[in-house]
Amino acid sequence: PTSQMATDKVLVGVIGGSGLYNLDNLTFIKHVNPETPWGFPSSPIAISSLPSGALVAFVARHGVGHTISPSTIPARANIAALKSLGVSTILAFSAVGSLREEIAPGDFILPSQLIDRTKGVRPTSFFDDTGVVAHAGFGDPYSNGLGRWLEGAVKEALENEGRGTKLWTEKTLVVMEGPQFSTRAESLMYRMWGGDLIGMTALPEAKLAREAEISFALIATATDYDAWRPHEAGVTAAEVGAILKQNADTSRHVAAHVIERLLGAAQADSTSTLLTEEKGCMQFALMAPPL
Ligand code: ADE
Repeated sequence: PTSQMATDKVLVGVIGGSGLYNLDNLTFIKHVNPETPWGFPSSPIAISSLPSGALVAFVARHGVGHTISPSTIPARANIAALKSLGVSTILAFSAVGSLREEIAPGDFILPSQLIDRTKGVRPTSFFDDTGVVAHAGFGDPYSNGLGRWLEGAVKEALENEGRGTKLWTEKTLVVMEGPQFSTRAESLMYRMWGGDLIGMTALPEAKLAREAEISFALIATATDYDAWRPHEAGVTAAEVGAILKQNADTSRHVAAHVIERLLGAAQADSTSTLLTEEKGCMQFALMAPPL
């Protein structure tokens, strides 16, 4: 394909959630729109370069004009399209609600666990209808080594941005179907289950990335307190809009800083598995007939 030349070196992909529809702090090069066996991605993929010259591929999960609902995001096409560009590592951003008093709107979180409440509505596997049964390991839904490394890198990015944005780690994210938000009773139940955050889009993306043997981490950005908390004053659309914009600006800064450092770290140490942690993880996942 004609796009091959400019995308040869794309190692890192970014998936943007609500509010984050571009990485326009990077130098835009071109759009590509690969058709996959699962259709087209949510948006044309923007290829941009970092100051080092490294390329980043960005896809807007809900479409550039936010027209795709959480239940109908073409997650398989998004992951497959990034994989087809050579991406080995994905940083995904997602707006979430907080189930904990201490996690405030505007805070950033690197969740380590997920609870799936998406009710089987979304296709969750590349192996559906293929005649092949695959059981990917998913005990740790995010790549462990990448996650540990990101703690320091994201913290550093937030500090050098200077807005005082807090970073939380080791949190559990509940992923619900939507598009309506939870009832108060459901929200209280999720807290009892051990949920710290709630969102609508972190799955099936993480499952598909694992099946595609792509290192994957989620950077969640809190926009609101979920319904468990009786709000003293009604939340206005303007307040949520301001948080979304601030979180998107901070996310762009974090993405640029972290990816530059990630590629530098991987390049400096030829034994580093930061970009290849999941390579081979599906080797024993496929069921085969007895010999
Ligand atoms: N995304 C952002 N805030 C949310 C909430 N409170 N519940 C579900 N998804 C969300």
